Amino acid sequence: MPTKSPAKSATRGSQPMLHQKGMQIQEFGTVRQLPVGLSHDARMYSCERLNQCLADSQILYSLYKKHHWLMRGPTFYQLHLLLDKHAGEQLELIDTIAERVQTLGGVAIGDPRHVAEITVIPRPPDGVEEVPAMISRLLEAHEAILIAAHDAAKRADEMGDDGTNDLLVSDVIRTGELQAWFLAEHLVDTPLVES
Ligand SMILES: [Fe+2]
Repeated sequence: MPTKSPAKSATRGSQPMLHQKGMQIQEFGTVRQLPVGLSHDARMYSCERLNQCLADSQILYSLYKKHHWLMRGPTFYQLHLLLDKHAGEQLELIDTIAERVQTLGGVAIGDPRHVAEITVIPRPPDGVEEVPAMISRLLEAHEAILIAAHDAAKRADEMGDDGTNDLLVSDVIRTGELQAWFLAEHLVDTPLVES
């Protein structure tokens, strides 16, 4: 039996094997068979709807950070902090949605360039909009996600995917509705001191 030279053994033992390339082992848009008691069709359908929600939520997260950074005016501090809080909550949501896709045997959308290809949320200008327009833009993104989430939750329920229905209702819808309320109150033209 041939023996390895001491030099080669040392190299194999401690040198990271860099710049490796490999083929894809699962394509986007497919599901693996996992023993979760759901049909292939139900898991395929839920993964597709969840990936759309995931992409739109990633864009919403980015919009929150953009507006958190670009905020200005007399309510700067309050809105700067609020938008960052909402961004953090969206980030948690994104992870929950992505892991649900994986739980169903799918492939979660992750690369922002892929996200940009499938999102339905319109792209904002690269510059700075007026503050009410920033808030309106966030509200419109919320509503697009909420409308889709209500429909997806109903369809997931019909297909027997209770876990996806619960995630969409308890996490996506409840978080989105609450955040939309907090934002919308900033668009009420109410006197501050005298009525
Ligand atoms: Fe910040």
